[in-house]
Amino acid sequence: MTLFDVYPLNNITITKAQGSYVWDENGVQYLDMYGGHAVISIGHTHPHWVKRIEEQLEKIAFYSNSIIIPIQQELAEKLGKISGKEAYQLFLCNSGAEANENALKLASFHTNRKKIIAFSKSFHGRTSLAVAATDNKNIVAPVNETDNIIFLPFNDEIALQQCFDQQGKEIAAVIVEGIQGVGGINVANDSFLQLIRALTTHHGAVYIADSVQCGYGRSGKFFSHDYAGVDADIYTMAKGMGNGFPIGGILIAPNIKPKHGMLGTTFGGNHLACAAALAVLEVIEQENLIEMAKQRGMYIINKLKNIDAIKNVRGKGLMIGFDVPEEIKDLKKKLLSDFNVFTGESKPNVIRLLPSLALSRKQADEFLEALNECIEEMKAPTPKGELEKVAD
Ligand SMILES: Cc1ncc(COP(=O)(O)O)c(C=O)c1O
Repeated sequence: MTLFDVYPLNNITITKAQGSYVWDENGVQYLDMYGGHAVISIGHTHPHWVKRIEEQLEKIAFYSNSIIIPIQQELAEKLGKISGKEAYQLFLCNSGAEANENALKLASFHTNRKKIIAFSKSFHGRTSLAVAATDNKNIVAPVNETDNIIFLPFNDEIALQQCFDQQGKEIAAVIVEGIQGVGGINVANDSFLQLIRALTTHHGAVYIADSVQCGYGRSGKFFSHDYAGVDADIYTMAKGMGNGFPIGGILIAPNIKPKHGMLGTTFGGNHLACAAALAVLEVIEQENLIEMAKQRGMYIINKLKNIDAIKNVRGKGLMIGFDVPEEIKDLKKKLLSDFNVFTGESKPNVIRLLPSLALSRKQADEFLEALNECIEEMKAPTPKGELEKVAD
């Protein structure tokens, strides 16, 4: 049997990981500024996380949601405390798409309406409604197509206001990333999120804060939406939540009432996943990682802004993006092949930095040094011999 070939792969096999480094099968060390796509929050194989999972594994790994699972409640309490959303309710699932799927479904149940507002360049996952609300036609199958999604331009307050003026009574939810990730690190304006809050409240719609990538402390606040001083009705989470152990969840405001059977999952909230998620929160708290992400992010962003060769540096905390001009378009590739640095990207020309929140100052400097050297090499005039070769 072969693997279903859907991923364009780097020809690298990683066999070991620790903190912000990974190693390939030949022992070559790489700096991980990509965090396995924003997933590594507390650092690879953090000892507390490993111990927590091992201890849980010895006791019980899984039982279904038909029994009381006290570690779920423990997780809910810790999450409420660290996120500041103590009055919210927690529903646990397994991935970001599933979190958004449940959030959208719940919004529709709650309002008894069908229309969803989503935005240009959004990414909400690959399951049916999540992908329909994603602004990328290439990944929407015919069966996922629906008239229930209204796409508006991101950060366009006038378009949003007009849409609610015309169709306010039909809108079940607005789903929005506080900082768009896949779309290229586009930060939602505070006033835009505040308008979403005001309009959804006024029209009885649900404000869904997709925090799958920009949440869990990555932005320097627990939820990037917190910068705007708003409380969403539903926060969706995954990626950093388990530091690589698959877990997702949604935080649900107290006015949205549950009903037995309304949502459900086999694996969501299993003992092992909850142990991993608790370990993550314990480390975030003990190591003050949200503040660390904020400080480290500011440091990196300021340094990047001084590099003339890259453009439009943006982001918050350790969710950073910049544009790569045509003349150094292979920057990401070369950083990996010649400098052993993993970074993320957004097509066509954005580099995304999504490292562990525990990235040290020394590692940040190591990255900046590699980046500067890499750019210097790429901009250096082609040696004469090379030119002649090209001319031939
Ligand atoms: C903002 C956002 N929402 C949802 C998802 C989907 O998450 P998953 O791949 O865990 O289904 C992603 C994944 O990149 C994401 O960035």
